[in-house]
Amino acid sequence: MEKITIRGGNPLKGTVKINGAKNSALPLLAASLLTLGKNSFRDVPMLEDVATKCQLLSALGAKVETSQGIVEVNADNIDTFETPYDLVRKMRASVLVMGPLLARLGRARVSLPGGCNIGTRPIDLHLKGFMALGAEIIMGHGYIEAVAPQLTGGRIYLDYPSVGATENIMMAATVAQGTTTIENAAAEPEIVDLANYLNAAGAQIRGAGTNLIRIRGVEKLVGREYTVIPDRIETGTYIAAAAITGGELLLENVVSDHLKPVVAKYQEMGVQIEEVERGLKVNSSLPLAAVDVKTLPYPGFPTDMQAQTMALLALARGTSVVTESVFENRFMHVAELKRMNASIKIDGRSAVVEGVDFLSAAQVNASDLRAGAALVIAGLAAQGVTEVGNVHHIDRGYYRLVENLQSLGAEIKRGV
Ligand code: UD1
Repeated sequence: MEKITIRGGNPLKGTVKINGAKNSALPLLAASLLTLGKNSFRDVPMLEDVATKCQLLSALGAKVETSQGIVEVNADNIDTFETPYDLVRKMRASVLVMGPLLARLGRARVSLPGGCNIGTRPIDLHLKGFMALGAEIIMGHGYIEAVAPQLTGGRIYLDYPSVGATENIMMAATVAQGTTTIENAAAEPEIVDLANYLNAAGAQIRGAGTNLIRIRGVEKLVGREYTVIPDRIETGTYIAAAAITGGELLLENVVSDHLKPVVAKYQEMGVQIEEVERGLKVNSSLPLAAVDVKTLPYPGFPTDMQAQTMALLALARGTSVVTESVFENRFMHVAELKRMNASIKIDGRSAVVEGVDFLSAAQVNASDLRAGAALVIAGLAAQGVTEVGNVHHIDRGYYRLVENLQSLGAEIKRGV
């Protein structure tokens, strides 16, 4: 089993070019199933999750070609509505093929999804949306099937602004008969990116990025060239890495608007962050100040930055309260951070973090993707040599994390 080994204490210095967003690339690849002709996606991050999604598209009969940062998909001949259990089990975002398959073939069958182990993560809202478009849902034997020979536009109110449900319903509605409205829709930048691609392919979507999305069904969508937006969570993770080490980084290929909730919070901690053209300059001098953080749907503070931020707060001056309101069980990194001398108490959906003077190296394990990133960040500042196990979680979402951190001056390596 591979692990990442880090000797903490080096301030990070240098430049990082941010990759395309994983959470945009995955729905975009799913959406390509709706189109005829060739799609060419650029700035696709070459991650485990993207490889899994490409395998899934191939298994459905699409032609997929991948070369550095570019994925070409031709879905002219998709011929099955069944998604293989092995692939869906690996990654929750596999469920995003359901909307496109239902629209394209009138039927979609997926096993109950897997992915990061952060709570029960149901898909009831996705299904509620499909039903509002006229689909019948059949469940049993660990599978969910949606059937609708012809989808018709409908009105959907989401009880919660779920990112995946908004994407799935939006995709299915693009070729439904009539108009669909999604109220209380998620407004994440990745939703806007998906809508931009679908509109370029011929869809009629208005309001993406607000809580009310209107989709007028069209007859068909045609493949396009499209560039994925930069990854705001990868950017945030490097901001956290610079901040905890008292470092100085230039992050290139950033849409700073997407980072507003993160930048505001880190500035409150005392980190200097300046916007430059298509980038951010980060400059941190220690110690950092304690702050309270509450995760919320966009434009609130992203849940995908909660664990990394907690690693920083473990070393901040004073007491911070971190409240996780998006996922019910996303504090798995706490036990590991405590093994590194952090002082954290969980009280329901909040964690009370008392800043300590130092973190000490330990053998720790990544329980999920962002928890893994948090442990690497903690290791960058800890005294001694930290070993982070279960590295495969980190590979799902970070391209060349270890190599990048090495080039910024960290003493970090990967091996068995
Ligand atoms: C996406 C992101 C993930 C991020 C999350 C929240 C991708 C591939 N993943 O996940 O990195 O952490 O948004 O920003 O884009 N829920 C329901 N019923 C549903 C759907 C969701 O109750 O049908 C609940 C979930 O259990 C969770 C909350 O809604 O508590 C948010 O989930 P959602 O916004 O759907 O996240 P994902 O799309 O899975």
